[in-house]
Formats: sequence, C-alpha cells, structure tokens
Amino acid sequence: MQQSSLVVVANHLPIGGNLAPDGTSRWRRSPGGLSSALHPLLWHTPATWIGWAGRPGAAPALADVGEVRLCPVPMTDEEMHDHYEGFANSTLWPLYHDAVEQPVHHRRWWDAYLRVNRRFAEAAAEVAEADATVWVQDYHLQLVPRLLRELRPDVRIGFFLHVPFPPPELFTQLPRRAELLRGMLGADLVGFQLAQAAHNFAQLATTLLGLEATDRQVRVDDRIVRIGAFPISIDVAEMSGLAERPDVLARAAQLRADLGNPRQVIVAVDRMDYTKGIEQRLKAYRELLEDGELRVGETVLVQVAVPGREGILRYRRLRERVEREVARINGEFGRVGDMAVHYLTQPFDRPELAALYRVADVLAVTPLRDGMNLVAKEFVAARGDRAGALLLSEFAGAAAELPQAYLVNPHDLDGLKRTLLQALRAEPADAAARMAAMRERLHHHDIRAWARAYLSALDSRHGPELLARVTEE
Ligand code: ADP
Ligand code: F6P
Repeated sequence: MQQSSLVVVANHLPIGGNLAPDGTSRWRRSPGGLSSALHPLLWHTPATWIGWAGRPGAAPALADVGEVRLCPVPMTDEEMHDHYEGFANSTLWPLYHDAVEQPVHHRRWWDAYLRVNRRFAEAAAEVAEADATVWVQDYHLQLVPRLLRELRPDVRIGFFLHVPFPPPELFTQLPRRAELLRGMLGADLVGFQLAQAAHNFAQLATTLLGLEATDRQVRVDDRIVRIGAFPISIDVAEMSGLAERPDVLARAAQLRADLGNPRQVIVAVDRMDYTKGIEQRLKAYRELLEDGELRVGETVLVQVAVPGREGILRYRRLRERVEREVARINGEFGRVGDMAVHYLTQPFDRPELAALYRVADVLAVTPLRDGMNLVAKEFVAARGDRAGALLLSEFAGAAAELPQAYLVNPHDLDGLKRTLLQALRAEPADAAARMAAMRERLHHHDIRAWARAYLSALDSRHGPELLARVTEE
C-alpha cells in the first residue's frame, strides 16, 4: 500500500453504497454532517481515507476517487451489529445526546468496538508515511488515537468529535469510561464543537484519570494533549452560489407552485433520528392546525427525513411513528390537492436542497440535542435575499453562533408553537436584520476557516503546507 502524508480515518468511506462491481466508485455526499463537512475540503486533496465501505464482508478493492486514495477496512456482519449499530449507535450516540433515548449496554459490544478500532489503527499505521498527519473522526473511533500512537509514535494525531461530548454525570455511566478517555488522549489535539464539551472532557480527565487538566490542555505522562472547541461549518461559497443560480431559483418557484402557492412554507431537513425532534415538531404543527392558528392551503410543512441506521429497532420504530403522525395530520387536515405535510425520505442533490432552502419562509431545526447542525448553516448561506426565518433549537451547537435565530426549547411544546408562529409572522425588516447578522458570522466561519483553525493547532510544523492543500478552492 502506498503511503500518505495526510490520512483521514472515519467510520464510513465517502462513497455511500455506490460501488461498481469493478471497484470504481464516486465520491458521494451521503446525508450526515461529517460527510457534508469533509467533502469540500478533501475531494481535491491528495490524502488517504480509511473507512468502511458500508457492507459487511471482505474489503472490496477500490479505485481512488479524485485525489483521494480509499483504504477500505473490512467488517464482519457481527461487527457491523456490535460496533456500528451496537456500541457506536446504541450506547454512545444516545448517551452523548443527553440520553434522550436510554443508552443500551452490552459487554459483547465493547469487544467489537475495541477490535474494529484496532483494525482502523493498524490500517492508519500502515499507510501513514513518516511524520504524517492522521486525522481521526468521531465517536465510532475514540480508541484509535491511543492504539495508533502505540504503533506509530512518530505521526501527528488529531481527533475531532462531531457530536456533543456529554457532561460528567452522563459520561460516567459508561462502564468503559476510563478506556474511552484514554483512547482519545492518544491524540495530540482533541477537538470538540463547543467549549462546554472541552470543559466536560477536562473535568473527566481530572476526576476519572487523576490527570492535570485545564479547558485547553491535559498532561498525559510526558506529553501535553491540547483540547479545544472548533465549531464546524459548511462550504458557504458553494451553498450561496448554488442558491443564486437561475435554475435553482426557477426550481424554488416551481416547488412553491407545486405546493399550491401557499402563503407560507415551513421546511425541515433531517436525518431520521430521534435526536432531531421530528415528532415534537409534527405535534406542534398539528396542534397549531387544531387551534386554528394555521390553516391548510395557507401554510404547508415540507418534512424531509432520510432514514438510516435501520438495522436498529429504535430507528425503525421512530420512522413508523413519524409516518403515522404525518398520515394522521394529512388525514385530519388535508384536502384533495392540498396536503398539510409533504413528507419526503429521499436523499437530494445539492441544487435541490438549495431550492428547498430558498422556498422556505421558515426553516425549522428543532433537535433535542445536536453537535452542530449544518442544515441551519446551509439555510443561512442560501438566503442571499435575506428573507426567511430560522427556527433553531437552543440545544443545537449552531445556536451558540446564530443567536439571531428564533431560538426555541423543543421540549416545551407551547414554546415551540409560540416561536414557530413568531417566526412565521416576523416583520420582513426584522427577519432581514437577523439573517444579515447570521450571514456575517458564517462569512467569517466557513469550513475552510474551521480546517485552518484545527490543522494549524494540530501541527505547527507542517500546518501551513497541509492547510494550503486542504483549503485550496
Ligand atoms: P447530522 O450530522 O446529524 O446528520 P447535520 O445537520 O449537521 O446533521 O448534517 C446533515 C447534512 O446532511 C447536511 O449537510 C444536509 O444538507 C445533509 N442532508 C440532510 N438531508 C439530506 C437529504 N435528504 N439529501 C441530501 N443531503 C441531506
Ligand atoms: O455527524 C454525525 C454523524 O453521526 C456522522 O458521524 C455520521 O456519518 C452521520 O451523522 C450519519 O450517520 P450514519 O453514518 O450512521 O448514517
């Protein structure tokens, strides 16, 4: 295997399921924050991406996609259940999201998590050239930094957590809490979305491991591990450019006409996940129809919810509940030719998403907990016309950067209804001022600014050269 000076390690390869029998594949931006964020940085950058090709069994032989060499890591069927669906998405995912669903613990899952993390670390050790930078992503791979350091003490190791890092009261529920912390501390830099997460991590390093820690660094033996907040962002230029394209604007106009030219359109774009607050949002909308505050024909809700992780019963059940509620709302309030909710489960290409953002009078982003939420930022980037209102959960990481949004506590149903109405009835001048302020923030904090901040903190020696490669447009 040829070696690389930049190695990205993430659970999934960026190819979705689209793998031709001859091993050729295209870069696919599958729905999800990690894939959306890394695409604009890496698709043109010489690097090796280590990840799972998305199906159990032997690793397929894969051709490069663009400049990126793909290095697939095999996973057995059992490992897919125990590592991906089990420890990553049934233990860590709910726990890290405020335990909005009960985290599940099985001792067997830990063994698979460790085994798969070791396999990823070994693959990284093999392809990293001397002195390389290895950038490990997200909660599926928290043990990789330490395992890799044992194999390759010469490489620079960065770890970035895309999801929230919970407060100590929650984290300490984990039976393997000390090992998980030590795993992350194998990195030179541990990055989080928010400063509070870095604070939580520092506290845990002190209380659980007895280490000397501040919110900026942890001392581990003779090493200093830096920690900090690096709020992730989007390719602002790409989304704002797309949203001004004549074909996209025409498509937005067409969408509005197809929706029956309602006075107001509410749009929501999520992965189908219980952290996203989809059920709470549908309930608030139904009650507003019941109360007579909203009327079908005048207002319509477009809910996009792409299913995923469907091997997990909880996700299948959530989908059933959401679909039942959509059917109920349409049954009770719809008319022939006039639906109350348009419900779509398909992945869309970027121009179609941009058109959806342009047609939205209100974009509703109401997760119960979210690391960042890039959909909120994409909407802001798409609104060069300064129109449209962002309804945003206080519990999304993005709320810290976008305080001018209509902020809401999604657990408070009356508050959710009230704030949705406020956003729908906003004075255009007020909405425009809020949008302008949010756009200003994004203008200075796009995905390249994120990469600059992270990579220069990670590697003061090779940072500038690496940055030039990663952030070149
Ligand atoms: P998460 O990382 O939890 O999925 P984010 O909001 O941060 O949440 O990121 C979701 C990303 O997935 C966004 O970039 C969004 O554009 C993309 N996405 C969501 N739904 C779709 C869809 N139906 N088709 C294509 N991309 C989607
Ligand atoms: O950003 C959060 C995240 O969990 C990513 O790590 C992940 O790739 C994405 O959402 C989608 O989830 P999945 O890979 O399980 O489909």
